[in-house]
Amino acid sequence: MKALILAGGLGTRLRPLTFSMPKPVVPLLGRPLIRHLIDPLPDEVDTVILAVSYMKDYLETYFQENDVGREIVLVNEDQPLGTGGALKNVSKWLDDTFFAFNGDVICSLDLDSMLASHRSRRGIGTMALWTVDDPSAFGVVAADDSGRITTFQEKPAPGEAISNSINAGAYIFEPELLDHIPEGVVSLEREVFPHVLHRGLYGFAFEGFWVDAGTRESFLRAQRTLLDVKGSTVPCPARRLAGVRLTGSNMIEATHLEPSEIGPNVYLEKGAEVRRGAKISDSMVMAGAVIGRDAVVSGSMIGPGAVVEDGAVVTGTILA
Ligand code: GDD
Ligand code: MG
Repeated sequence: MKALILAGGLGTRLRPLTFSMPKPVVPLLGRPLIRHLIDPLPDEVDTVILAVSYMKDYLETYFQENDVGREIVLVNEDQPLGTGGALKNVSKWLDDTFFAFNGDVICSLDLDSMLASHRSRRGIGTMALWTVDDPSAFGVVAADDSGRITTFQEKPAPGEAISNSINAGAYIFEPELLDHIPEGVVSLEREVFPHVLHRGLYGFAFEGFWVDAGTRESFLRAQRTLLDVKGSTVPCPARRLAGVRLTGSNMIEATHLEPSEIGPNVYLEKGAEVRRGAKISDSMVMAGAVIGRDAVVSGSMIGPGAVVEDGAVVTGTILA
């Protein structure tokens, strides 16, 4: 079975970090974001097709250097084709029931159950559904009692959403869907879904957690959610943590740590440096970054090689 991951967005909401690396490889607790989608795929998925258009070479190098246990096919778009155009562009690989994912979604969806549900309903597709308080930034669905989607609204204006049930960005489709996608730049959500409802597009609601990790706030929320689920990991030897005050759940790979205050919700990548007196919370710090003496970092993503000067206060920022 094949899985398609849409990973061609420019990652504008994670700039300036995404000027130097594509969003799919930004590290979320020790693994590139996209590995959180690839690694839990059911065993029957032998091939993963990545539809990319931004920094393809970077992703190609990553997959050449890292064996993820499945065949990876990177398909480039010379210009971004939109979520629907990207699917159409990889049609030749999709000759049977396939998974499709938005590349920035982190969730606890049970794909085996979703597949069983899809097979029992025999529609053109199944869409994972999640419930949120404010659905205006998402695709919103209404479904009938059998779970069949009756209306799909992409990013409704505030107050116009028909429900709180949103498109979680994870799908199972039949290849027939591809026949409903015109050539060129096409939005799956705006130009395709509303026209295939009559063919049977079913919702699959799930529980647990779901985060679209596409912005600084939501990326750090995904980090916090995973830390809550998995607990702290401090793989470096305890003596390296001498004098470090830890609060809450964190993942600490960094090896150069001076006495400082860390947590909650902090990921320090291997090769990050923290100097004496620094305070870091709700943040991620990548390899080669330095958090200076007495600096305060919160709600921030600190990119590779970025330096937070001694005594600086960095709040709600992405540094690269
Ligand atoms: N290959 C390719 N080409 N991928 C693309 C393109 C493109 O032109 N445009 C976007 N993508 C990828 C992005 O990289 C991302 O992984 C995914 O498609 C969705 O695009 P976003 O830009 O992140 O969309 P969104 O978050 O505003 O909305 C989508 O996701 C929501 C759930 O997070 C929609 O599918 C909504 O309906 C949904 O609720
Ligand atoms: Mg998104």
